Amino acid sequence: MPLINIILTPAEFEYYNISTNDNIIVVIDIFRATSTIVTALANGAKSVIPVSSIDEARRLKANGFLIAGEKNGIPIDGFDFGNSPLDFINVEKIKNKDIVITTTNGTQAIQVAKNKGQIIIGSFLNLNAVADYILQQNKDLVLLCAGWKNKFNLEDFVFAGSLTHYLYSTKKYELDSDSALLGYLTFDRSRRKLKEFLNMASHKKRLENLNLEADIDFCLTINKYPIVPKLVNDKIILG
Ligand code: MLT
Repeated sequence: MPLINIILTPAEFEYYNISTNDNIIVVIDIFRATSTIVTALANGAKSVIPVSSIDEARRLKANGFLIAGEKNGIPIDGFDFGNSPLDFINVEKIKNKDIVITTTNGTQAIQVAKNKGQIIIGSFLNLNAVADYILQQNKDLVLLCAGWKNKFNLEDFVFAGSLTHYLYSTKKYELDSDSALLGYLTFDRSRRKLKEFLNMASHKKRLENLNLEADIDFCLTINKYPIVPKLVNDKIILG
């Protein structure tokens, strides 16, 4: 039976000995990077290219790419977009374009997982599509939470717990770690009052301080976009 692991922060990734390509890694940054990537692709972007640094993104802008991102939640000077998913809805400018993105945690988590498995991008916006895709693949599953600067984040963990709950309930998966077990239990206890539970999350408070309540609501919308973005040759595309 395939196994489920939840990795709480990118810093823990190395301890899980994930060295084969025969697994699926879901990268999760609910507030907001993975929610933004899903939204950009669902709204017609051709690809999203995650990069590690602001300088790299700026170099790519000089080569004609649109660039997006944030540092500590704040938009970056000279970038075409910040990291708000709302910036990408019904925007003609992104249609069929490659968009380079760099963020404080989400794109860093993608870099950590690169070449260690098939990377897919998870968010509440595409929860069921991701879950159904994983079920069809029947492979070991790693749920990698981006967290905040290698610290634990509740919203990423609850999302990982929701996927774990769905898959484990099919009886086709085993839980391979206490973090997966805790994810299952946490979602089981919180699912009927998810928004209330996530009200306590530190990153939610951080975004509220930046007046980004609309982003928070949007990122907690479930199943708005039935898509499964995958990292293929350094670009995130719809598979
Ligand atoms: C990140 O990648 O760190 C985030 O998505 C931060 C944010 O924009 O809220």
